[in-house]
Amino acid sequence: MLTLALLVSTSLASVQAYVWPSPQLDALEAMRWDQNRFGIAPLIRPCDLFIFGPANSGRSNAADWIRTAYHDMATYNITDGTGGMDASIRFAAEQARPENAGDGFANTLNVLQPVSNRYVSSLLTSLTLIRIAAAQKLPSRGGRLDAAVPNQPGVPEPQEGLDSHVASFSRQGFTKEEMIGLVACGHTFGGVQHATFPTIVPDLHDSNNVDSVAHFDTTNTHFDNNVATEYISGTTLNPLVVGLNDTTNSDKRIFGSDGNATMEAFAQSPDLFASTCANLFARMLDTVPKGVQLTDVITPLPVKPNTIKLIYDALTETIAFSGEVRLWDVPANLSRVVRMLWDDRSGSTSTANNITLSTGSIIPIGSRHTATWYFFNLFPLSASSGVSSIRFVVDGKLEDQQGKGFAVNDDLVFANSSCSMPADGTGTFDVAVRKDVAPTRVYLEQTSRDSTSRPIIVEIDMTPKPVDSSKAYAIWSANVSSTFESYTIGAEVGGVKITRGLGMSLNQFGECSS
Ligand code: HEM
Ligand SMILES: *[C@@H]1O[C@H](CO)[C@@H](O)[C@H](O)[C@H]1NC(C)=O
Ligand SMILES: *[C@@H]1O[C@H](CO)[C@@H](O)[C@H](O)[C@H]1NC(C)=O
Ligand SMILES: *[C@@H]1O[C@H](CO)[C@@H](O)[C@H](O)[C@H]1NC(C)=O
Ligand SMILES: *[C@@H]1O[C@H](CO)[C@@H](O)[C@H](O)[C@H]1NC(C)=O
Ligand SMILES: *[C@@H]1O[C@H](CO)[C@@H](O)[C@H](O)[C@H]1NC(C)=O
Ligand SMILES: *[C@@H]1O[C@H](CO)[C@@H](O)[C@H](O)[C@H]1NC(C)=O
Ligand SMILES: *[C@@H]1O[C@H](CO)[C@@H](O)[C@H](O)[C@H]1NC(C)=O
Repeated sequence: MLTLALLVSTSLASVQAYVWPSPQLDALEAMRWDQNRFGIAPLIRPCDLFIFGPANSGRSNAADWIRTAYHDMATYNITDGTGGMDASIRFAAEQARPENAGDGFANTLNVLQPVSNRYVSSLLTSLTLIRIAAAQKLPSRGGRLDAAVPNQPGVPEPQEGLDSHVASFSRQGFTKEEMIGLVACGHTFGGVQHATFPTIVPDLHDSNNVDSVAHFDTTNTHFDNNVATEYISGTTLNPLVVGLNDTTNSDKRIFGSDGNATMEAFAQSPDLFASTCANLFARMLDTVPKGVQLTDVITPLPVKPNTIKLIYDALTETIAFSGEVRLWDVPANLSRVVRMLWDDRSGSTSTANNITLSTGSIIPIGSRHTATWYFFNLFPLSASSGVSSIRFVVDGKLEDQQGKGFAVNDDLVFANSSCSMPADGTGTFDVAVRKDVAPTRVYLEQTSRDSTSRPIIVEIDMTPKPVDSSKAYAIWSANVSSTFESYTIGAEVGGVKITRGLGMSLNQFGECSS
């Protein structure tokens, strides 16, 4: 694993955390910081893991992720702002180019794309993995967009001359010295494969390295400066330095292009190597096409509600209310008392609106952080008074986002009368719409993919049921043909589209009665 003592991390202190809730930032924050819980970290830990072939292949996922990110970025043209980090490397047309030889791109993106959604691009997922690999120290921004079409070619290849490489990195926005750094930082992982570059690497006939990967340094699944120390000491086996055919010795030309000054400095100082790589990787990841607006650096919220769920029951005129809250980096103490207070819709907090949360789990995040989760289970609120805001008392201290509270919307919620018909896998969603809301349209939102695999939202219109004047909510209905697909609620209110709710599927409700 990388152990980076980073300069960039000092900039984090000045970044303001966002105000919860924000659907996009909540999703990005979770992708970045709740990586264990959301299943991303296992794709890259440990660093020598390889899930796309046998363990003795000589390859690693970590190397594939980094090369994928670089090859996606390397199409960037700083003059006109085209290309860059936009997941265009997912297109078969890009992967078929000689500059993108190898199967690492298909491997990584096939895993990443299903993880992407309306808030998290497939490349962001990839970047998250790199950030995890980089010991969590790279500042993380969201907002990347997956491209609709392939980019222009532009990834450097080993047989090009030094001038061509300098020009290529300059087009990507990097100086010659930064080029040396970025190549050395990338080439501390992985190596060159025989199958992909048979003229550079022969079949190695090694049962511990069946893909015949000639590694760039002796610690090819670790982030360290051995790529530099071995180069400077003259012991390197880097196939792009000591390859038999000098035409393809691009690392040799690049590393020597400043008289070895940069590589000497890297060899002498692991810290300099680490901090330089962190800065260069961060710039690589944030090189996006013109017009794409990245978010501020996403820092973990100290107190973050999650999976807040409201479900209306028309029979009892109640709303079942459940959820959880994450405390970031608090001392492990399972006796800690966390209370939740909430305001009803009119903004008042009765003394009854005050509960102790259940102690949950303490989840380590990498080696530096912990997330401690507390839960509250479904309990009924009066549908006529509802809920507008929650806040917490942790170790006796009020946590309410500096007086703003954590807003909770009870205007459109799933209704308990939603039901599934397991026999044919269909069912009916009922959405409860608070009567003062008066939307012109209510629909279910379903995440789908366009023809280029970009996430899109498909809207399924709902129809209003006859209104019962004794109830606080009106019911809108739609039949769907899947009981496991997750949907959120959408509506048009005063010409504005709103999105509500935790995604839910019909198999989370009861069976239809007839
Ligand atoms: C002139 C610039 C560069 C050239 C000519 C070059 C060339 C190559 C070649 C030929 C391979 C072998 C690929 C394979 O056999 O699958 C490779 C692997 C790799 N490159 Fe580069 N590279 C360059 C710059 C970079 C940069 C800037 C990075 C990252 C910041 C990077 C990251 C990697 C990684 C991680 C691998 C290992 C992939 C694996 O083992 O699966 N490269 N590079
Ligand atoms: C980069 O963009 C500029 C402006 O459109 C163009 O003149 C130049 O040819 C591009 N460079 C490359 C290498 O495509
Ligand atoms: C060296 O590599 C270049 C580029 O791949 C190739 O054109 C040339 O034929 C190779 N030379 C020898 C001697 O194999
Ligand atoms: C850089 O260092 C290597 C290894 O000591 C040496 O072989 C090479 O000649 C040096 N290159 C330059 C340009 O000084
Ligand atoms: C843990 O929390 C309990 C309840 O707030 C408190 O009494 C106790 O001192 C805490 N223990 C530590 C080690 O902080
Ligand atoms: C919430 O309940 C606790 C425990 O009964 C009590 O100490 C606290 O004062 C209450 N807070 C509010 C704001 O009612
Ligand atoms: C839904 O309503 C039924 C009937 O009132 C009740 O038995 C059930 O517990 C409710 N379920 C939820 C999740 O609120
Ligand atoms: C859903 O399907 C049922 C059974 O076919 C039907 O009675 C009902 O009208 C449908 N509801 C909607 C909103 O289309």
